[in-house]
Amino acid sequence: MNTIIPIASGKGGVGKTIFTANLGIALANKGKTVIAIDLDLGSSNLHTCLGIKNRHPGIGSFIYKKGISLESLIVKTDTDRLYFIPGDSLLPGTANLQYFVKQKLIRGIQNLVADYILLDLGAGTSYNIIDFFLISNTGLLVTTPETTAILSAYAFLKTTMFRMLFRSYPPKSRERELIHNFLTEKLEGTDNSFLNLPELLENISPGAGEHAHTQINSLYPRIVLNMGRNKQAIALGSKLRQICKKNIGINMEFIGYIEYTDQMSASIINRIPLVLSSPDSQFGRSLTTISGNLLHIGYQDKPKLYDSNEDIKNLGDFI
Ligand SMILES: Nc1ncnc2c1ncn2[C@@H]1O[C@H](COP(=O)(O)OP(=O)(O)OP(=O)(O)O)[C@@H](O)[C@H]1O
Ligand SMILES: [Mg+2]
Repeated sequence: MNTIIPIASGKGGVGKTIFTANLGIALANKGKTVIAIDLDLGSSNLHTCLGIKNRHPGIGSFIYKKGISLESLIVKTDTDRLYFIPGDSLLPGTANLQYFVKQKLIRGIQNLVADYILLDLGAGTSYNIIDFFLISNTGLLVTTPETTAILSAYAFLKTTMFRMLFRSYPPKSRERELIHNFLTEKLEGTDNSFLNLPELLENISPGAGEHAHTQINSLYPRIVLNMGRNKQAIALGSKLRQICKKNIGINMEFIGYIEYTDQMSASIINRIPLVLSSPDSQFGRSLTTISGNLLHIGYQDKPKLYDSNEDIKNLGDFI
């Protein structure tokens, strides 16, 4: 069975793609077969960070052309055991996937054969991104230590929790309606705290509250703190942990800390990922540690979610 690791962020430009490329190499160097998939469909650039030329068909072909399998798009990289599926920034409209297209893509990814499948996602809280993040219960969230990035990471996690709960109840159910009303503040007499939601669900449907707790506890997103410049960065990172625990009741775990490095721009220009050119640098060692940490995580089943195209309208506007 493959382990799918989606890599997301609230704010853009925090280093997801650099991280995905280098993590793929670090895992492959540990003897694992890895497929890194560029799912930042609006502005794909994972190939650049892997040092590969952009001349192969990618996800756009799978979406728009008939009879093309995801396997047939797999490209070899210069690193043994590391493979790559390109995105498609050239095809317009790919970033807003229709629901059935998204399902086709998710099933295709789940059926790929590899030890690890890394998904480099776009930034932000659109449903496409969150639904890709929810393919697994152990996605990674990359953030930098800046307050804006930390707040965006928090908003991402909160939106993800709402979306995950919403999708865990059947389409057109009363539970979904309650979550929708909760978000749009149509419920009287509540302080609209996420932590109240299980109890409110229990009130309308016995067992629904327990179900909500089980779902919330089944998600273990992990944080990567990137581009840290000093020890204060770690303190800011633990703030995120505190607000997540206090406001949405989830226990966050930090899986790695990566320092800012001046070597990065040269590595991109030279098209040689830093874990290959400088394995003993702080960056290289961090990536090796993080890949080692990932190998020791006990992976659980993916979240139990209904397939449906019912969305909470403009969820992002309410959070
Ligand atoms: N540890 C680091 N040290 C120095 N620079 C870094 C580090 N990590 C990433 N960068 C730089 O940050 C910039 C953004 O990186 P990257 O493209 O990976 O971010 P991203 O989160 O994938 O962005 P987007 O949201 O646009 O997809 C790049 O210029 C990269 O060189
Ligand atoms: Mg990126």
